[in-house]
Amino acid sequence: MRILVIGGGAREHALCRSFSLDPDVTALHCAPGNAGTAEIATSHAVDALDGAAVAGLAQEVAADLVVVGPEAPLVAGVADAVRARGIPVFGPSAEAAQLEGSKAFAKDVMAAAGVPTARSYVCTEPAQIDEALDAFGPPYVVKDDGLAAGKGVVVTPDVEEARAHALACERVVIEEFLDGPEVSLFAVTDGETVVPLQPAQDFKRAYDGDEGPNTGGMGAYSPLPWADPKLVDEIEQTVLQPTVDELRRRGTPFSGLLYAGLAITSRGVRVIEFNARFGDPETQAVLARLKTPLAGLLHAAATGQLAEFPPLRWSDGAAVTVVVAAHGYPAAPRTGDPIEGLAEVAEQDAPKAYVLHAGTKLDERERVVSAGGRVLSVTATGSDLGKARERAYAAVGRVRLDGSHHRTDIARKAAEDAGDAGDAAGDH
Ligand code: AMP
Ligand code: GLY
Repeated sequence: MRILVIGGGAREHALCRSFSLDPDVTALHCAPGNAGTAEIATSHAVDALDGAAVAGLAQEVAADLVVVGPEAPLVAGVADAVRARGIPVFGPSAEAAQLEGSKAFAKDVMAAAGVPTARSYVCTEPAQIDEALDAFGPPYVVKDDGLAAGKGVVVTPDVEEARAHALACERVVIEEFLDGPEVSLFAVTDGETVVPLQPAQDFKRAYDGDEGPNTGGMGAYSPLPWADPKLVDEIEQTVLQPTVDELRRRGTPFSGLLYAGLAITSRGVRVIEFNARFGDPETQAVLARLKTPLAGLLHAAATGQLAEFPPLRWSDGAAVTVVVAAHGYPAAPRTGDPIEGLAEVAEQDAPKAYVLHAGTKLDERERVVSAGGRVLSVTATGSDLGKARERAYAAVGRVRLDGSHHRTDIARKAAEDAGDAGDAAGDH
């Protein structure tokens, strides 16, 4: 199978890595890619938002499957443009991608499908904003309606901060605060059949102890030793399947990756948000444990054959991903800094720990330099979370990037609560 991956973040590097290990994959292309994907896939310079250009490239490389990684091309209709040429695509249509592209649309679908989520108001006028903030009280949850790369959401006890963010948005969703731990659950779907992957947890805030601003995600781990073993079945039945059924009923079936961001509250599971693509950094941790070859799974989804697909196989143990972010991320990331230590990780830590590139590129001297806010992520596997953490952080310690920062507490509480030793004993 010849595969073209669209995008250039750590998620796309993780997808490319899984494809590169899949015996069914005979050719791997990535556009635009990054310095990491370039090591395992052929890079192509293409505007990922230009459907005609992506479809043309897919034809040129005779792709059997195109996988669209990020949300912006999906919302722009890139999957539709490729599908129109008869090439199987993993990724929803522009209409179905509105599930991520518009929070108001997602709320409407959930209401129609009976999917549990936070109560909310959609506001466009200052008077409505004040009314909604008053109705819920603190802590306030204020969300820009459109795509904002994970940065359009403000959760704050400060009513003035909440109001200021709401007034800065053209259309804003103000909603009830949900307490309880967050879970990210991904499902592969062909618009009818839903195949959930294993759950993960993301760390959205920039600094240790969940301090600082919201980010695209600073780390993740999977599975969740603290979660009820029936949680995935429950989410499939109450959230994923009804949402997929509702979109099909509307004549806009959702085929691709349905990502449910959930809060496990004292009153049960509630959807925080949907995304229309693999999450970053959760994908790095989830795919690290998927034993079923990825190409066949995504091709089955793209061609409407998931009902016949055999059950997924997972490796035992755990995976942890730690994001290394640029100086100044998320407010004002600095780019162009050289990254060192990557060869040391490849020599000393692989294959159980490895670097997945996100915002990187090769400069004119062929050095790997930073080119984005989340620069790279280190993913490690282990027999338990403690062991996976230890390996991930050992590798993070070898990566040198001036001014960079990372969280030191990814999966720490979960590992401690599970009683993982987290020392070097055993598991070699
Ligand atoms: P979103 O972009 O909708 O995923 O929101 C980003 C982050 O804001 C989430 O991962 C949560 O940590 C937080 N958040 C969003 N909505 C709520 C809510 N209703 N209650 C509590 N926290 C929320
Ligand atoms: N990790 C959050 C996201 O991918 O949106």
